[in-house]
Amino acid sequence: GQLKPFVDTLPLPSVLRADGKPLRIDMRETEQRLHRDLPPTRVWTYGGCMPGSTIEAQSGKTLRIDWRNELPGKHFLPIDHRIHGAEADNPEVRAIVHVHGACVPTDSDGYPDDWYVPGQSRLHTYPNKQDAAALWYHDHAMGINRLNIYAGMFGLYLLRDEHELSLGLPHGEQEIPLVLSDRLLTHDAQLYYPVSGNSQAPWVPEVFGNAMLINGALLPYLDVEPRRYRFRVLNAANARFFNLKLRDGRPFLQIGSDQGLLAAPVTQRNLFVAPGERADLIVDFAPLAGQQIEWFNDALPIMQIRVGSGRVRDTSKVPAVLRDLPRMPESAAVRERLLTLDAYQDCVAEPMLMLLNGKRWHEPVTEKPVLGSTEIWSLVNLTDDSHPIHLHLVRFQILDRRPFDGGEWMDSQTVRYTGPAQAPSAGEAGWKDVVQAWPGMITRIIVHFDGYAGRYAWHCHLLEHEANEMMRPFEVVPA
Ligand code: C2O
Ligand code: CU
Repeated sequence: GQLKPFVDTLPLPSVLRADGKPLRIDMRETEQRLHRDLPPTRVWTYGGCMPGSTIEAQSGKTLRIDWRNELPGKHFLPIDHRIHGAEADNPEVRAIVHVHGACVPTDSDGYPDDWYVPGQSRLHTYPNKQDAAALWYHDHAMGINRLNIYAGMFGLYLLRDEHELSLGLPHGEQEIPLVLSDRLLTHDAQLYYPVSGNSQAPWVPEVFGNAMLINGALLPYLDVEPRRYRFRVLNAANARFFNLKLRDGRPFLQIGSDQGLLAAPVTQRNLFVAPGERADLIVDFAPLAGQQIEWFNDALPIMQIRVGSGRVRDTSKVPAVLRDLPRMPESAAVRERLLTLDAYQDCVAEPMLMLLNGKRWHEPVTEKPVLGSTEIWSLVNLTDDSHPIHLHLVRFQILDRRPFDGGEWMDSQTVRYTGPAQAPSAGEAGWKDVVQAWPGMITRIIVHFDGYAGRYAWHCHLLEHEANEMMRPFEVVPA
C-alpha cells in the first residue's frame, strides 16, 4: 500500500566537532526506521546513523579522524566477483573512507585500493586548507563501494571559514542539511540492490530506487518559522539525478555549489543535481507564514515544510556579493587533455563496459599533471548518458560544453564541433569538483593542480559506472 506522507519529522544528523583530539567514527551495522509505518531497515553506517554524523570543520584547522571498520564479516548486498577489486579471493567486507572535495595528502584521501577489513582502523589527517564548502564522506573500497554507500555509508563534512561566517547567512536551527538518496525496498522494508539476469555477472549499469530518502527518511516533514533558511543539499544517490523544486515552481536562491559559495546569489526555480554534487540554497518562508509547501523531485513531492504563523524577527542576510570568484583564464593552462567517456558492448554475453579514455583502472597512469600547474581537461562524451565526473584533490571551473560530431570522432579521432560553445549556467559557474558531462558534448574544465603530489582518483560518480572501470588514477608529480 501507499505510505502516509509527512508523518515523520526530518531527521537531522548529529554534529561532530573536533576538540583537538582525533574524532573516532565507527562503521557499523544497525537498524533504522525509514518511515513510521515501516519495520526497521538494516543499514551500514558511520557512527550508527544513515546519513552519518555531520562533521563540522574549520578552514585552516587540521582535523584527524580515526575511521574504524566495525562492520560484520559478511556483506548483505550482492557482490559481483567479476568486478575488479571484488574477486572471490578478496575479503568480502572492505572499507576505506574518502572525504569528497577535500584537498588532502594522498595517504589520507581514501585511495580505493587502500581498503581494510573489520577489526582494523585508519587515522586520516585533513588539513582543511581550503575555503568553506559542503564536503561529504563516503566509502571508496575498490569494487564494492556502490554497495557500501547503498547500505548507508555516507555523511556530510561541513567546512566553515571566517569569510562565510561574516556574511550573516541563516545558521544554527535555520541551517538544514538535505541529503538526498533513493533506494529500492523489499516488502519488509529491507534494502534491495538489483542484479542482472546473469548470475555470473550480477552488476547492473545503474540503480534507481522508488523510495526517495531525505536524511534517511521517507517523505518527512519539517517545521520552520516564517524566516530565511539555508539548505545544504547533497545528492548521495548511486545513480539518480534529482530535479529539486518547490511546489508551483516557487523561486529560491542558490548561493553555493560543490566547493563553496558562488560569486552572487542566483534565483532558481529548479535545481538539477547529479550524484556527488552539492548545492547551497536559501528559501525565505516569511511570505508563507501559516502555510505548507513541499520540496519536489520533478512532479513528486518528497518533503513537506510547515511554516509557523508566529511573528519572528529575521536578522539573517543574503548579501548581493558572496565572494570574490575570478574566472580562471584559459591562457593559464599549460596543456589540454582530450579524454573520452566511452561505452563498449562488443559481445552479447558481456555486460556493458564504460571507460575513461579507453583505459581500465589498473592500467598505467596516463594523466600526470605537475604540482602547481593548470590544465584543461576536455571530456569527450561518446555515450548516450550524462556522466558526473569527479576529480579528487582539486577544485575546478567549468569552461564550456560544446556539441560535436561523434561519428567523425569514431572514424578519425578528430573533433568537429556542430554548434556553439555553451557557458556553464550561473549555478555551476563557481568552484566545482563534479561536472555533468552531457551526451553529445565536449565538456571542458580548467583545473589548477594544487595541494599535494601523489596518486589520486578521478571517476564517474554514477557508482555502478565507477565500480565497473569508469575510474582512473591520476598522479600529481612534483614540479
Ligand atoms: Cu565522491 Cu571518488 O568520490
Ligand atoms: Cu558514468
